[in-house]
Amino acid sequence: MAVRTVVRMGHPVLRRVAGPVTRFDTPGLHALVEDLWETMHTSGGIGIAAPQIAVAKRVVVFGLGERDDRARCGEVARIDPTVLVNPVIEPLAETMAESWEACLSVPGMRGMVPRHTRIRYTGFDAFGNRIEREVEGFHARVVQHECDHLDGVLYPSRIRDMSTFGFDEELAIEA
Ligand code: NI
Repeated sequence: MAVRTVVRMGHPVLRRVAGPVTRFDTPGLHALVEDLWETMHTSGGIGIAAPQIAVAKRVVVFGLGERDDRARCGEVARIDPTVLVNPVIEPLAETMAESWEACLSVPGMRGMVPRHTRIRYTGFDAFGNRIEREVEGFHARVVQHECDHLDGVLYPSRIRDMSTFGFDEELAIEA
């Protein structure tokens, strides 16, 4: 296990379409997943995608435990720690909602991003067991954000009102 360097916006691997995982339950895949968890926890993220540690594979991990302050204080709902390989997302609602997003690859910044409010996602865990869930709200947002990374999309390109995009500290100033 190792904490890996998180590459930032501008790195070419973040603009690539990542390739599917073709073999499950391999030492290489398990090591990648461990590195993703360790890097995410060290960075204070809620999710991370393999391209963010410069691995162009369709693997994301995300989750927010009960002990996490952000879940504990009710700021966001808790999400079971999940490893999702070769994910597919299907919107279940026409409605989109806007909320703040941030990204470990765009440090110090945030912006308002529209996302589908309800989705079904399918995929596999690292052992090749199938995952299928219907989720909404914050959970749906996190999955859409992470899976965008696998198609070379970063959240700033989804922002509709660019006046909402900026550095955390500046956005915190009362207008
Ligand atoms: Ni991100």
